[in-house]
Amino acid sequence: MTNVEAPQDLQNLFDETIAADQRIEPRDWMPDGYRKTLIRQVAQHAHSEIIGMQPEGNWLTRAPSLRRKAILMAKVQDEAGHGLYLYSAAETLGADRGDLTTKLIEGKQKYSSIFNYPTLTYADVGVIGWLVDGAAICNQVPLCRSSFGPYARAMIRVCKEESFHQRQGFELLATMMRGTEAQRAMVQEAVDRWWWPALMMFGPPDDESPNTEQSMKWRIKRHTNDELRQRFVDMSIPQAEILGVTFPDPDLRWNPERGAHDFGEPDWSEFMDVVRGNGAASVERITNRKAAHDNGAWVRDAAYAFAQRERLAHDRTTGETS
Ligand code: 3HC
Repeated sequence: MTNVEAPQDLQNLFDETIAADQRIEPRDWMPDGYRKTLIRQVAQHAHSEIIGMQPEGNWLTRAPSLRRKAILMAKVQDEAGHGLYLYSAAETLGADRGDLTTKLIEGKQKYSSIFNYPTLTYADVGVIGWLVDGAAICNQVPLCRSSFGPYARAMIRVCKEESFHQRQGFELLATMMRGTEAQRAMVQEAVDRWWWPALMMFGPPDDESPNTEQSMKWRIKRHTNDELRQRFVDMSIPQAEILGVTFPDPDLRWNPERGAHDFGEPDWSEFMDVVRGNGAASVERITNRKAAHDNGAWVRDAAYAFAQRERLAHDRTTGETS
């Protein structure tokens, strides 16, 4: 066991652990900034998973068949599970789940911009699976190697489930594309609406991203926002060709010199506006989240009372006081 007492020793041990690509665990010493950055990112991620249940949950009662409904229910429940793993990961950093939820509801913490757009047709369910979960996978697979152990480990299961989400979306769209002219038009219209918001999920351009540089040094993030956005564009184009849809970007073309696709600039003023809470569905999302939290108060109270009773019973049996 290493004998570390002075703060500099602790800092050195932390730096060596990061440099060796080893994991930082909750009981390890870590700089305050590292802890704060992780709580911020993990909490935003958890909020995104929970708020992300709403756009598709909106279609559960109107799914076109029992099969589609069963798939959609499983997917929406998976997102709830992802949120819970992530809140647990945040708790290992000393954050309080109730406090994080309050901050979300009061607009003091963010969640992904993508979930502030409305879902207008059933094709949106397919496009969210294909593009939104596809973008989430692209962003989150590298996070399986994030330097903080509980976050990295949570990401492994999350990514496996996101792969199923992406495939169900693609399969839904492929089915619609084999259908009628109206169904094909519905898919293309949904792709047109979701393409740019999906690119914005990766965050602002690198030169306007205040957190990327430090998060990369700490190996919380393994790639920059622009690197992942490029990867997503390159992987989505062949998939769009197989489906028979196009992306609404006249600047999209293969660049043989870069060995990658060039593409247009997302509307970053729209992004900023949505992040500030002015998206088409922003108010609805937070109102619903608050109502769900308020309606669940009795469950939390009951769980707390049960835990108290168990603790007292344990103390009576053992003679201990906790
Ligand atoms: N939506 C809302 N806010 C965003 C954003 C987005 N798409 N992209 C960036 N931001 C915010 C950042 O949180 C940061 O705000 P803050 O400093 O006030 O906290 C600010 O904009 C500047 O951005 P940075 O690039 O400096 O921030 P990060 O270094 O944190 O990078 C990120 C942003 C790439 C989203 C990174 O936080 C990340 O990889 N997070 C983990 C993944 C995640 O949260 N995904 C959300 C979607 S989850 C999902 O899609 C569920 C699935 O089921 C579909």
